[in-house]
Order: sequence, then structure tokens, then C-alpha cells
Amino acid sequence: MSKRALTGIKPTGILHIGNYLGSIRPAFKLASSGYDAFYFIANYHAITTLHNKQELEKLTYEHTAAWLAFGAQEQNITLYLQSDIPEIFELAWILSCFSTKGLLERAHAYKDAVARGDKVINHGLFSYPVLMAADIICFDADFVPVGKDQKQHVEIARDIAGTFNNTFGKPVLKQPQPLIQDDVMVVPGLDGQKMSKSYNNVIPVFASPDEIRKLTARIKTDSSSVEAPKDPDKCTIYNLYKLFATEADAQALKQKYLAGGMSWKEAKDLLAEALIKQFEKPRQRYNEIIKDTDGIKAVLKQNAQKARVVAEATLTRVRNVVGIV
Ligand code: ADP
Ligand code: TRP
Repeated sequence: MSKRALTGIKPTGILHIGNYLGSIRPAFKLASSGYDAFYFIANYHAITTLHNKQELEKLTYEHTAAWLAFGAQEQNITLYLQSDIPEIFELAWILSCFSTKGLLERAHAYKDAVARGDKVINHGLFSYPVLMAADIICFDADFVPVGKDQKQHVEIARDIAGTFNNTFGKPVLKQPQPLIQDDVMVVPGLDGQKMSKSYNNVIPVFASPDEIRKLTARIKTDSSSVEAPKDPDKCTIYNLYKLFATEADAQALKQKYLAGGMSWKEAKDLLAEALIKQFEKPRQRYNEIIKDTDGIKAVLKQNAQKARVVAEATLTRVRNVVGIV
């Protein structure tokens, strides 16, 4: 049987090309290399911070539509909503009884909130890793592809499953392994910092061609003259371009930088057209899919049914071991 890869995507911001390269593209690569892929939209994790009905609904459909536009169904990815799987929440409670306060106090999301001096820290944020452990353990996931920032949370899931198994003296729960893509680059944003929805420096994956041209025009550059030779590696335009262009096109632009005589506008235009071309087909599909909310709901329901078969089997096993009659 093929190994199961499982990951969750929090619908808290518009999808940008950093998310695409850092998360969506590698997830599709795993799905096409023989893993049984279970990917889901973590809408209950989103409400630890996002308290706006319209925004959450909109982002939930947008994220789902994006995965569909990139071919989730064709790749046999089981794409579902966390909120459609009640077993996850039952398991989260059970696991919380095997998670110590000390373990959760060491978790990054909580520690960061404390370090920032957040006045209000809700219980959802504190117990975030327990829900995440339930997301993973409910489906007997073998591997969890995540960015470095989420590695600790997967290790906490391993710990909690281990504590549970030790308590009952048998391997009831599968202990997942994080799968960290070390080679995934940090995609720079318009200002040269890491592209992130928190920094207002993103290029949305499904921006229209005009929006893409406007956004790339905003990329921060230095004030060197047209004639001056330029260092491509220090330039956000080139660093973004090389992520999408062919090797030959990237080399050609590099030579233009080094030779001098190239305006920033010329480089920005090249980047804009490369981005427009790269996302043209998925953008067209996305624009169709996002109009059809009922269609999105139907796919999600169908996939939830499939996912729940796995989740129900896990919960039956767990209740039985714990003594829930
Ligand atoms: P944001 O930084 O915009 O808040 P998230 O933290 O929601 O994005 O990230 C979702 C996923 O996208 C994560 O797997 C993360 O590793 C990836 N990701 C986000 N920004 C980037 C970036 N600039 N470069 C590479 N990957 C990124
Ligand atoms: N915490 C993850 C993030 O912020 C999202 C997530 C929720 C997740 N549940 C998960 C990731 C389970 C992997 C597995 O990006």
C-alpha cells in the first residue's frame, strides 16, 4: 500500500506565489510520485485568529478552488474541509487528555504570542498543536509535508501519539514524520523581504494580467542608472524571474544585468509576462471554478465522505482502547 502524505492549509490570506512555490507545488509533486495524498483546508485552525465570517467563507472557497484549478482531482488528491470531518474534533479532545500543559507551552505559535506580549491568547491558539495532531493522526498519515516553521508541530503530534501508545501499551496510533523541503527557497516579496500576507508585499497567484503588471512595477529597486551594470542576485526582479523562467531565459536576463544598458522597467516587464504566462491556464480554470460555489461544495462533500471512512475507523479503534462504550 502506498504511504499517506497529509497536509493542512490554513485559509487565512489570499494565495500568493510564495504559497504556490513553498507549499502547493511541492504537495503536487508528492501526489504525483506515488503518495496517497490527503490535503485539507484547515478552516477551524483559521479561527484561532480570523474572526470574520465573510472573509473566512471567501478564503475557504478560494483556497479550495485554487487546489482544484491546479488539478487536485486529476491527481487523485483527497481534498477536503477540516470542518467536514467531525471525528477530528472528537479525537482532538481525546488527544488533549494525553497532552501536557508543558508540552503545549513549548509550542511556537503559543510562545510567539507570549513573546509578542499579546494581551489575549485564546485557548484555541494554546491547543492549536492538539487539533493539528488530531488532523494528522485521524488519517494514519505517514508523512506530513510542511515548511520548517511547522516541523515542531508535527513532532508534537508524534509525541502525543507516542504518549497515547505507551499509556495503553500498544501501537494504536501511527506516529507521523515531518517531511521538510529543505530545497524550497524563500520567495521574496515586492519589497525584497519574504513574501507574506502579513507584509503586504505579495503577488497573488490568480491576479489578472493587469494586476500583475501593476504589482511588478512596484518592486523595490536601487537607483542605479540604465547604463550601470547590475547585480542580478541582489535584485528581487531577477530572483523572482529565475523561479519561473527556463534556465536559458534566466541566463539571458542575467547577462543583461551584467552588461549594463538595461532599465528596471525592461526587467519588470519580462517578469510580469513570465508570471502571466506561468499561471494563465490555472487562472482560467480558477476563474471558472470560483464562480460555481455549488460545484466546489459537491467536490468537498464527496471527498469528505471518502476521508471519513478512514477517520471513522481510527476513532472506532481509539474509543475502544480508551473505554468509551
Ligand atoms: P504567509 O507567510 O503569507 O502568512 P503562510 O504562513 O500561510 O503564508 O504559509 C502557507 C504555506 O506557504 C507554508 O507552507 C509556507 O511554507 C509557504 N510560504 C509562505 N510564504 C512563502 C515564501 N515567501 N516562500 C516560500 N514559501 C512560502
Ligand atoms: N498549522 C499549519 C500551518 O499553519 C496548518 C495545518 C493545520 C496543518 N493542520 C495541519 C499542516 C496538519 C499539516 C498537517 O501552516
